[in-house]
Amino acid sequence: MSDGGPLTVEIAGLRLRRPVILAAGTAGTLDEMADAIDLSRVGAIVTKSITREPREGNPPWRILPERAGMLNAIGLANVGVEKFCAEYAPRIASVPCPVIGSIAGNAIEDYRAVAEAFAKVDAMAAVELNVSCPNVHGGTEFGVDPGALAELVGEVRSALNGKRLFVKLSPIAVGRPSMVDVARAAADAGADALCISNTIPAMAIDIRTRKPMLANTTGGLSGPALHPVALRLVHTVYRELAKERGLPIIGLGGVLRWEDAAAFILAGASAVEVGTGLFVDPRSPLKIAKGLEKWVRSQGERSIGGLVGAMRL
Ligand SMILES: Cc1cc2nc3c(=O)[nH]c(=O)nc-3n(C[C@H](O)[C@H](O)[C@H](O)COP(=O)(O)O)c2cc1C
Repeated sequence: MSDGGPLTVEIAGLRLRRPVILAAGTAGTLDEMADAIDLSRVGAIVTKSITREPREGNPPWRILPERAGMLNAIGLANVGVEKFCAEYAPRIASVPCPVIGSIAGNAIEDYRAVAEAFAKVDAMAAVELNVSCPNVHGGTEFGVDPGALAELVGEVRSALNGKRLFVKLSPIAVGRPSMVDVARAAADAGADALCISNTIPAMAIDIRTRKPMLANTTGGLSGPALHPVALRLVHTVYRELAKERGLPIIGLGGVLRWEDAAAFILAGASAVEVGTGLFVDPRSPLKIAKGLEKWVRSQGERSIGGLVGAMRL
């Protein structure tokens, strides 16, 4: 942790003025949220996940409100790496907070191609690997298969030419292999930090028409329903792996208020990301940071780093 202000944190050497990051896919392709909030007051932005080829994504409906969050099946709609590098990357240097480039794909070669392009974008502070994508060769998600994940992370690590690599895990590795097995595979293959977690696979049915409410039938559940699930995963990975190795964790899932962020910090996260919270209130990251600052003081700490993993058992 660093000595900037009470909220300054370092994630694998990346200094964030505040431990509150805009999550992938919920804040536009790059800096579109600047229309709504002062980006110099958030910790960092994660880009939309970028793939090798442009993607239209799934047909509508692809976002639905849920009682305890949101269901989405966007299908990774994005501009593709070529257009991203030509039209968006030149703007990164003037974004007033660190930019983390998110990569997605269905084959290791796809991830590698985007990683090679991102390696050349000097202003990009780090890369976040979205591993909740089905592996075209193996069928299952990279994020639930430690062997496939290790191979993927190793390939991307070598393509990135030293750029920081954060690996964003799926919450579905709950049995065998466990989330800790998956997290260990990512860490051993060179992850500099872990982001926990992506959405939970879910669905909704319109009982009048008897049809699925998402055109894709299934999607991902985010928001308040995800928070306790992701909190437990952060706690488990912190206690069983990350603490001992000094491996930073970024917690995400249902951070709508500062209290949600504080719980992630106590469970072992060094920072949080906000996704669904941006749809509820685009200014929520600023309010969350303000609340965290007061909380740090109320706990008698000079820095939020003193509260990381400080849950009392
Ligand atoms: C509309 C929408 C689009 C998303 N797109 C991406 C994406 O492109 N890449 C990714 O890694 N996660 C994506 N996510 C997942 C979020 O980054 C985040 O992991 C998840 O929503 C949990 O956090 P939250 O509860 O704060 O929303 C998306 C989520 C939503 C709601």
